[in-house]
Amino acid sequence: MDKKLEKYLKPNLKEARMRKSDIEYKEFILDEKYKSLGEGKKYRIQTYGCQANEADSEIVAGILEKIGFTLAEDEVDADLILLNTCAIRENAENRIWGELGRLKIYKKDKPNLVLGVFGCMPQEERVVEKILDEYPYVSLVYGTHNFYKLPEYIYRLSEGEKRVIEAYSYEGSIIENLPKKREQTHKAWVHITHGCDEFCTYCIVPYTRGKERSRLKDDIIAEVKHLVERGYKEVTLLGQNVNAYGKDLEGDYTFSDLLLDLDKTGIERIRFTTSHPRDFDDKTIEVFRTSKHVMPYVHLPLQSGSNKVLKKMNRGYTKERYLEVIRKLKDARSDISITTDIIVAFPTETEEDFLETLEIVNEVGFEGAYTFIFSPREGTPAFSYENNITEKEAKNRLKRLNDLVNKGYLEGSKKFQDKTVKVLVDGFSKKKDGVLSGYSEHNKLVNFKGDESLIGKIVNVKITKPMTWFLIGEYVK
Ligand code: SAH
Ligand code: SF4
Ligand code: F3S
Repeated sequence: MDKKLEKYLKPNLKEARMRKSDIEYKEFILDEKYKSLGEGKKYRIQTYGCQANEADSEIVAGILEKIGFTLAEDEVDADLILLNTCAIRENAENRIWGELGRLKIYKKDKPNLVLGVFGCMPQEERVVEKILDEYPYVSLVYGTHNFYKLPEYIYRLSEGEKRVIEAYSYEGSIIENLPKKREQTHKAWVHITHGCDEFCTYCIVPYTRGKERSRLKDDIIAEVKHLVERGYKEVTLLGQNVNAYGKDLEGDYTFSDLLLDLDKTGIERIRFTTSHPRDFDDKTIEVFRTSKHVMPYVHLPLQSGSNKVLKKMNRGYTKERYLEVIRKLKDARSDISITTDIIVAFPTETEEDFLETLEIVNEVGFEGAYTFIFSPREGTPAFSYENNITEKEAKNRLKRLNDLVNKGYLEGSKKFQDKTVKVLVDGFSKKKDGVLSGYSEHNKLVNFKGDESLIGKIVNVKITKPMTWFLIGEYVK
């Protein structure tokens, strides 16, 4: 290794695979010497990736504002630009490389601008090495396990260190009491677990996010109660496999117990993502029958409809098990809306396997799906699986799948024709003046005319025109 690089702390995917470290629960403490580091300075954060990243960016913004930074309305004015990155597929990474190329121009006029990269990508040593070699103007690189250390890193840069590059292979802690600058004032993300232990063979997340670890129930309940006191109407509980909540803790308190406790906090709407078909137990399904606040909507990734492919993906369930969960959910709540994730062209997927996926899509009647072509991720088992599906064939499968999925979207929308639905209003729609938008209980995007006073409230809207991607309606006083 190049001697001059030795002070940098690089992660290692092989080490990350091991589940070595013990989890410590700690409080966030801000050292006095960092408290005015950002005074007079402005920041921007660009977030890529899943809800976990969005929630992390809210924490990073909270930390930065705690040390005196203010948000730059325009990126030209920023003294610090951070990219919170995603490593899930190759195109997610390519966007970041492109963006770093674009942001370089600002360094010319503003040599002191700190350009930083954090989140899932720096958990891959390949990425850290590429930044070291090809992006010398990126001066701050840190991962998912240490983003709360940002004040220390900014301090070190202000003291003259040229580059701070620090990403760990292991997690080690759950940090509570982190400052948060939430994007919204009526709905909030709430992490319930961090990391993932599933090791689906295609997926990089167990390496970039580390061992599955649950927050303590009292911390989660206290956070939700605090949100209720501040007028929040909705929480979305976050975890890569929320159904595994509590399995790493002592005692037999599980996800359904948490849902029942949160149901009593006074929060109006509870959502969660993502669910895992293997761990979706009957007690959780039962909550859909009894709870007033758990919304009638589930995102349940299928990935493939072929048992052979599911096995190769290490998903831990069969299509029969998947369909059983769906049947029980519909039994518990007949109007439930279900969406999914599907990967096509996974190594060895044949036309017959793919047809099995289409068959399940038809059978379940998904009201939406995120669909992807398999993207090999270095360091995961599936990276080295032989794959002789051509790009043309993969695209063809994706198109056929999407055509079917889009029909499901429209069918899901049509269910609400002439119905009055409850909408939590997010704000004005970006496209049209005077048009508000928000989400219904079934997680449908609803647009309707109304005034500013409705933002943040749950209002009744009668659906007049269901479209594929959203519903149009009229406000009912
Ligand atoms: N923990 C969640 C979300 C993981 S990432 C879950 O298990 O569903 C979101 C989706 O990205 C996954 O559901 C999967 O469909 C897709 N995905 C993950 N890795 C991928 C890869 N290497 N190539 C293509 N799609 C992938
Ligand atoms: Fe990835 Fe599977 Fe974990 Fe989801 S459950 S994050 S797909 S390893
Ligand atoms: Fe991407 Fe990391 Fe989320 S890889 S999908 S941002 S956990």
